[in-house]
Amino acid sequence: MRLTRVWSALALLAPLAVEASVLAIDYGADYMKASLMKPGTPFDVLLNKDSKRKIQSVVGWKKSDRVFGGDAFNLASRFPSDVFIDTKILQAVPYDSDTVSFYKKISSADVIESSRGAVAFKQSDEKEWTVEELVAMQLAYVKDLAESFAQEKVRDVVVAVPPYYTQFERDAIVDAIEISGLKTLALINDGTAVAVNYAMTRTFDEAPEYHIFYDAGASSIAATVVAFSSTTDKKEGAGTQISVAGVGWDRNVAGLELDRRLREILVRAFEEKHHKSLRQDKKGMTKLWKEASRVKSILSANSEATSSVESLAYNIDFKTKVTRAAFEEACKDLQPRFVQPIFDALLSAGLSMNDISSVVFTGGATRTPMVQAAVKKVVGEDKMAFNVNADESIVLGAALYGASLSRQFKTKNIKVNDLTVYDLQASYAAAPTSPDAKPRTITTLVFPAGSKTGTKKTLTFKRKEDFTINLDYRDLGDSGFPSRMLEADIVGVAEAIANLTERGAIDPVVKATLTLSESGFFSVSDAVAFGEIKDDSITGKLKGLFAGSSSADETSTGSAENMPPRETPETAETVSSSSSSSASSSADTPESTTKVVEEKKKAPVENTIPLTVNVRFTTISPMTVEEKQQSRKKLRAVDQEEAIKTRREEARNTFESYLYRLRDLLDDESAETPFKKCSRETEREALATRLDESFQWLFDRGDIADTTHFLDKRIALETLEKPIIHRYKEIEAFPEALNNSQKWNFHTRIFLTEARQNLTLESEAGLPSKWTSEELDGLEKTLKDHEKWLNEWVEKQRSVKSFEDPVIETMEMKARAKTLETQLFKLVKRKVPKTKKPVKKDEPEASGTSSVKEDAKSTTTTTPTSTTTPDMKEEEKNGDDSRTRDEL
Ligand SMILES: *[C@@H]1O[C@H](CO)[C@@H](O)[C@H](O)[C@H]1NC(C)=O
Ligand SMILES: *[C@@H]1O[C@H](CO)[C@@H](O)[C@H](O)[C@H]1NC(C)=O
Ligand SMILES: *[C@@H]1O[C@H](CO)[C@@H](O)[C@H](O)[C@H]1NC(C)=O
Repeated sequence: MRLTRVWSALALLAPLAVEASVLAIDYGADYMKASLMKPGTPFDVLLNKDSKRKIQSVVGWKKSDRVFGGDAFNLASRFPSDVFIDTKILQAVPYDSDTVSFYKKISSADVIESSRGAVAFKQSDEKEWTVEELVAMQLAYVKDLAESFAQEKVRDVVVAVPPYYTQFERDAIVDAIEISGLKTLALINDGTAVAVNYAMTRTFDEAPEYHIFYDAGASSIAATVVAFSSTTDKKEGAGTQISVAGVGWDRNVAGLELDRRLREILVRAFEEKHHKSLRQDKKGMTKLWKEASRVKSILSANSEATSSVESLAYNIDFKTKVTRAAFEEACKDLQPRFVQPIFDALLSAGLSMNDISSVVFTGGATRTPMVQAAVKKVVGEDKMAFNVNADESIVLGAALYGASLSRQFKTKNIKVNDLTVYDLQASYAAAPTSPDAKPRTITTLVFPAGSKTGTKKTLTFKRKEDFTINLDYRDLGDSGFPSRMLEADIVGVAEAIANLTERGAIDPVVKATLTLSESGFFSVSDAVAFGEIKDDSITGKLKGLFAGSSSADETSTGSAENMPPRETPETAETVSSSSSSSASSSADTPESTTKVVEEKKKAPVENTIPLTVNVRFTTISPMTVEEKQQSRKKLRAVDQEEAIKTRREEARNTFESYLYRLRDLLDDESAETPFKKCSRETEREALATRLDESFQWLFDRGDIADTTHFLDKRIALETLEKPIIHRYKEIEAFPEALNNSQKWNFHTRIFLTEARQNLTLESEAGLPSKWTSEELDGLEKTLKDHEKWLNEWVEKQRSVKSFEDPVIETMEMKARAKTLETQLFKLVKRKVPKTKKPVKKDEPEASGTSSVKEDAKSTTTTTPTSTTTPDMKEEEKNGDDSRTRDEL
């Protein structure tokens, strides 16, 4: 019902041009959903091969077969080391973090440390996969689904990520996207995506209206305060402004933690009942993991549930009853944490609950009654809203956002302002004031939490040598991630400053541009050396003026060097607040989102010299180009292996069914099957022998033989069978071929008789003729040869037995009849020469060779026809023997 509403709203969403489509993915810890925006196709969630709207975020192997989604999840208890669940929560996390300890509690897979200090897995066959590779496989799986749905290549993708995702995690998902063969159009925060989805079907007043999007998923709970208001834009008309005002979250309390606690109840019940330990049993624990999630969903609607698992461990069929009360008791300490994100979000937005119109629920874990109850207690029932699709609002919002970026769709005019939830700062060593001064580090808060994404700021430095700017998070709480994002070396300073100084610049400086992109990436995007060059000429003065005004915010309060370190960075106004469009990162598309303050694209002014920015990652680095290529190769190898396997299976199946078909032919007891009629005893024996061999071979080697073996074996049999098939095909085709040959004999003969008569009459009357008698003689000779050949060989063919090879082939019969037919038509189509033009005395000859006229056969109007040839004409036009045959 809700979808129809979205769909009707999307009537506005007519495609502008047929171009590439945009894929949106909500990659959740438990489930992923995808949606494809393709011009001309209805906007909806993509279905997987089983027509499911959500796909479990699982990849695994059953021996050497790779499986995805629910199929993979179901294998987890049999192959606990080869099935990988909830990989989302491990993206870019340091190997020694709490997240990894938590993961080890919920999954039995073998977690190892990856080369960059993050997480990888080791399979039972020792094969290793990084988290990014496993995520990439799942994204590639979605890509394949989308491509088979769209019947075209799909490349651009928008992926929704939790708003609290650090740069490390954002890098990890972007790396996975790249490995999967997709291209990141943008990342969008989950809550923002829901807000876009929410705004699609609603209108707002000018005064902002605040809603909280409360998203309780598998891995975390997040609350996003969003302001909605109407805007009018001269160019684009009325629209909706969506501004994220504040975000609160808890990374460690959500569906997975609830599942874990419920499983604890089950484990304890088992251990108490059977006095045996279960925790070391990987398969048993994995079975209970699945069972816990099932029981949890039953308890969402019932006050008690029966859990029963066959052969859980020690061959024991386990059965127990769990009450909702017991489950809630086990989660009692979590209840305040269910709602804390709401308070945090309000605090960061500077609002109170009174300012909020509604709290919109989304995410699978909002179905759990205790979560709802906890929220109800603090926001009141009247503000609780269930007016978006709990499972799909994120992906649908992300898809709409993607559509707005791609410019191929005309979407409702929606503008989005998002923010960073972390304080982002830059630090650097102070320039030494004297050779033996103690090194000092200066720290500047560049983008405080709440800063709009899609903005740039410029830092000014008084430097004469190369130096390094470090980008850090001020406080990541207990996330387990390092605070340092990257270190950017500014290179070429000495030369550039010397150059400017030499040219008369007074106090030249270094300016570095720091960007916070739409997708939430913090970087040093640009650095230049800059100096005002005194120039006495008028142009020089104008230039100086221009240069001064273009960087108006660059303050005279002093360079960054004058700032006290760390303690009071906020007060230091070294950061020029020129917020502007980020036209830089390819992953960002500013157009649809923030209020774009067009930065004047500075024409290269001679007092600005570009500097080199070399970025280094000293903590958890994103994958390098080479690493990504390696990973792509690994994934492609898997794909190729699977393709080979598929082809092999097909070859094997085809071969097998061919063997059975042959056996049926040979075993058929009825006396007069065509196969029997057309084969000799010896041929059948040879085939039968070869067939027995083949069956034996299939039985012995079928599992190890490769595709070409199956093909070779089939060809060997087909070579024996072919002559027999050929015989009965020929026997079947012969009467028709003969009829056809005779038909042309007949038509030619009639034509010749009539034409000769006319020729005589015409020559007596002194009229021009279409043909010469030589031409008619020529046709008659062809006819006679054809008749003779036909009679002779048909006679011979009559004495050929059905199990012998035919002496004339129907192919040849058709070819010869065609020769006659062609010659006949050449004459039939001939036009009466025009007598009126005296110049054309030799017309008959000329017209006989006039290719122009012959080619004019497609203009059917003027061709004179004999009464006997209309059918022939028809045939000539469509060149189809069978049709004429039927008509005659
Ligand atoms: C300064 O740099 C410019 C180009 O960047 C160059 O043309 C010029 O020669 C340099 N001047 C000096 C004095 O190095
Ligand atoms: C022979 O002449 C008659 C009368 O003009 C005409 O109808 C007929 O089509 C001609 N036959 C051939 C084969 O051209
Ligand atoms: C040959 O063609 C004629 C005329 O169309 C038809 O009546 C006859 O059945 C055909 N014979 C064979 C063997 O196809």
